[in-house]
Amino acid sequence: MDLSLTIPSSNQHVELANPVFTASGTFGFGTDHSDATEMTYLGAIVTKTTTLNPRFGNPQPRIAETSSGMLNSIGLQNPGLEAVISDKAPSWTDIEVPIFVSIAAEDAAEFAYMAERLSTVAGVTGIELNLSCPNVAGGLDFSTDPKLASQVVEKVRKVTPLPIIAKLTPNVTNIIPIAQAVENAGANALALTNTLLGTAIDIERQKPILSTIFGGLSGPAIKPVVLAAVYKVAEFARVPIIGIGGIRTGADAIEFMLAGAAAVQIGTGNFLDPETPRKVIQEIQEYMSQHNINKLSDIIGGARR
Ligand SMILES: Cc1cc2nc3c(=O)[nH]c(=O)nc-3n(C[C@H](O)[C@H](O)[C@H](O)COP(=O)(O)O)c2cc1C
Repeated sequence: MDLSLTIPSSNQHVELANPVFTASGTFGFGTDHSDATEMTYLGAIVTKTTTLNPRFGNPQPRIAETSSGMLNSIGLQNPGLEAVISDKAPSWTDIEVPIFVSIAAEDAAEFAYMAERLSTVAGVTGIELNLSCPNVAGGLDFSTDPKLASQVVEKVRKVTPLPIIAKLTPNVTNIIPIAQAVENAGANALALTNTLLGTAIDIERQKPILSTIFGGLSGPAIKPVVLAAVYKVAEFARVPIIGIGGIRTGADAIEFMLAGAAAVQIGTGNFLDPETPRKVIQEIQEYMSQHNINKLSDIIGGARR
């Protein structure tokens, strides 16, 4: 059975053995397993989002459970770019799984600086741009605005030959023009989506649970919303779409692929059971044999035909 996926790039295509990634912020830096071979079954790993300078993240509480999902307001806690390069990157060359480093920055120039720096680091397969973070100049999240989002991709495109995944927020009225803008600016894949804005109230304290009041909703609760975004964007997209939202089973992944995704990422599912990605891959293979599918990519967009 062929589960492979190619992410095209300007001058170096990336071949993945299968289309199942771990999502940013839910699998650390891919360095937590003492035995690197434990991860070789994964299609790819996306690291926790890294910023130029270290961040401590938001005050506790920054996690709340909700029906069929969870809210988080971690606030991009990370050790900063140089610490990631010196402490985490050396083990990426031992892991036989492609590593996409997720980055967030305060403006387009900072994104470009980070991407260029990472392009010289061994073991980095590609860059995922976390465009769901605020642009300091105006406070808006980059991917709520086609112009802001595409400026970032354009600047990053100029400084790196590595494949660029543009990860978008679902918290917009219409995601299509934003997806088109980042694609036209040179993104090699679109990751749909980050978390949905949400909140939860503690009725005993009569206060919001999260210290930041609002957080990002993830898990099965968001799956239909993200699936709709994937379905809509797939009508126009010329680059692979990576679906991310509530995927826990092979059936969930197949739904995303039939809607038009070429690959999937698993986030909250890793917290429920760290074996979720392995299970998803196995269940995809079972589906393929039950339906006589030799090449998984043949089903991409199948529900749209
Ligand atoms: C605890 C937690 C931390 C996250 N941190 C990041 C992050 O650093 N960067 C990012 O792009 N997305 C982050 N995400 C979002 C996930 O990568 C993913 O887009 C989202 O959770 C939807 O997928 P899921 O429903 O499978 O969790 C985080 C999600 C969770 C639950």
